[in-house]
Amino acid sequence: MIQYHETTKTFHLNNGKISYLMKVLPNGALGQLYFGKAIQDSECFDHLFEQHHRPMSAWVFEGDKLFSLDHTRQEYPSYGTTDFRHPAVEVIQPNGSRITDFIYVSHTVTPGKPALEGLPATYCEQGDEAETLTIRLEDRLLGLAAELSYTLFAQHAALARSVRFVNSGTQELHLTHAMSLSLDLPDSDYEFIHFSGAWSRERHMKVRTLEQGIQSVESTRGTSSHNHNPFVMLRRPGADEQRGEVLGFSLIYSGNFLAQAEVDNWDVTRFTMGINPFGFDWKLAPGESFQTPEAVVVYSSEGMGAMSRTFHTLYRTRLARGEWRDKPRPILINNWEATYFDFTEDKLVSIAQAAKEEGVELFVLDDGWFGARSNDFAGLGDWQANTNRLARGIPGLAERIDALGMKFGLWFEPEMVNKDSDLYRAHPDWIISTPDRRVSHGRNQYVLDYSRPEVVDNIFGQMSKILSEAKVSYIKWDMNRCITEAFSASLPADRQGELFHRYILGVYSLYERLTTQFPHVLFESCASGGGRFDPGLLYYAPQGWASDNSDAISRLKIQYGTTFCYPISSIGAHVSAVPNHQVNRITPISTRANVAHFGTFGYELDLNSLTAEERALVREQIAFMKEYREVIQFGEFYRLKSPFDGNFTAWMVVSPDQKTALVGWYKVLNEVNGPFRRLRLQGLNPAFRYSVDGDSGHFGDELMNAGLVATDSAAGECQPFERKSFDFDSHIFVLKA
Ligand code: DGJ
Repeated sequence: MIQYHETTKTFHLNNGKISYLMKVLPNGALGQLYFGKAIQDSECFDHLFEQHHRPMSAWVFEGDKLFSLDHTRQEYPSYGTTDFRHPAVEVIQPNGSRITDFIYVSHTVTPGKPALEGLPATYCEQGDEAETLTIRLEDRLLGLAAELSYTLFAQHAALARSVRFVNSGTQELHLTHAMSLSLDLPDSDYEFIHFSGAWSRERHMKVRTLEQGIQSVESTRGTSSHNHNPFVMLRRPGADEQRGEVLGFSLIYSGNFLAQAEVDNWDVTRFTMGINPFGFDWKLAPGESFQTPEAVVVYSSEGMGAMSRTFHTLYRTRLARGEWRDKPRPILINNWEATYFDFTEDKLVSIAQAAKEEGVELFVLDDGWFGARSNDFAGLGDWQANTNRLARGIPGLAERIDALGMKFGLWFEPEMVNKDSDLYRAHPDWIISTPDRRVSHGRNQYVLDYSRPEVVDNIFGQMSKILSEAKVSYIKWDMNRCITEAFSASLPADRQGELFHRYILGVYSLYERLTTQFPHVLFESCASGGGRFDPGLLYYAPQGWASDNSDAISRLKIQYGTTFCYPISSIGAHVSAVPNHQVNRITPISTRANVAHFGTFGYELDLNSLTAEERALVREQIAFMKEYREVIQFGEFYRLKSPFDGNFTAWMVVSPDQKTALVGWYKVLNEVNGPFRRLRLQGLNPAFRYSVDGDSGHFGDELMNAGLVATDSAAGECQPFERKSFDFDSHIFVLKA
């Protein structure tokens, strides 16, 4: 898949789906020639490296008024040696200079994909699944190498990139920009699409037209954040779900990131993605190395849908890991919205018992079971059960749940501490805070300094003790605040700029240790809902609580937005009580389930509080999920109608053999005397005949072109024999070939 043409010094990465072309430039730097649909190989693509005399430029070589990096598309650019755009790399040197000059030295091509030390990344199971090209660039003056890594997957239109810096020189250097990916595209005819929001309205789709200048999204909060997601698309105008060119960029990282498109004055688009340079400063002493996180770029010429499905398959099968990766996820009940902090052991068991009666498989005990925690002022950091509440501790409760025939799961917030805790009293210096300054709180809690191995060791010790002595099958790992007054008592002054990244490395190391020692445990990530819903955590936790907003109508946008990058098997979605606790909306229990079915399904309420009629519906919902969860969680997902465009939302999943499909259809507000409506389906086999909800059948080509009739009684005056339509209505069509 990876070719190098020595005579023209050209690299061609080509897997039959995409081509990626680079070339060594006259000054030895690496130039970018092409990224897009696969093209045939040729010895020479030099004509794609264009030069023109452009006045007011600066030129690299004396006597030459053509070669300027100002107008050259590069692979891993530096600032200030004739290029004035934002760089991929910046290094502060002992003499104060920031100028670097990275030139090509050598390269290797290896089968498969090496792991990234200490960082989550995509991986291979067989050597022939991918090839990795490593290009060594060097700044000779500094003795600093940048090893650019490119992994091309045989089966996916996807390229994974990362960079490793090695200081082989004699001076202490400071890396202030070390982007994972930089890509110069020849034009700017794109829309920049990102997924932004805030707590309880995460990943809302935002579309802007690229213009000359800089557009970016970032996090400076210490987490990837509710506010922006480390995923961006560049979409050609007119491209949609099924047609047109789309590039998807995703960073496998859970901390401060930057995703930026800079359009220069000749309409070249430079896209960069990586650790946010804002506040970043990594000291690289002689002999030390630094590994950037991995960025994945996906190309699609068949719209956003195909791009998403590439991410879904790659991330579901070659980013998520462990026993639970390929297993249908248990249907769970979580007590948080049912009790908050107000529970007794018997109350918990009664919630579990009612859930078990309807078919729920896993009971999850949320916040409030440990230390002095009876509200959010105390207890975080003390991961021992509160025996006033749970007489025989976690083992005792776990046994009672086990006796019901259910699995048991437990909530932790391992990165936090309350001042009212034994841990804080013993180690007040373990929190992140700046000497002599006020330390801000978030929800009355403080952030443990995970850059310190002894802190991570302590929490690992506490958590592994519980997991070893009780039957715990699932962990919900929460994280409920951002990092402020960033400073570590254990880092010297010239390493304080490393704290945010070291913090995330500490989080990853704890995940790594726990998932290794307890391989049977299913981890679900959470950060006040979707505050860290990112590919970094997907590597350790194959599912994540997508949002604290459990309202079905709000969830349409949140879950729809999430699907652009993340597989359905990763989206935690539950049925909760009404009026909904976040938005006070009353929606039918059928719609709450019809939305939550497209995720890892569960309940977030006390089923004892439901009527007999509602309980019967719950039983049906659970039976439905058990019948179809493989299709939902491991099938191909298609978006049909966007909640960002109006009153209706629709999406569907199709089984790998195309014999079963489920179409979710949702209406926000009811209407009267409305139009007839059809949904043009996708992903079916045109030649298969599908029964829809048990009818006599329609060919796949009819359903995909003429469409599925999705008209309801709102198309006129509702007739006595018809099912009444209403606000917040929904339906899941079941198609069987
Ligand atoms: C925030 C989470 O998102 C909720 O689901 C719940 O676990 C609370 N924290 C508990 O404090």
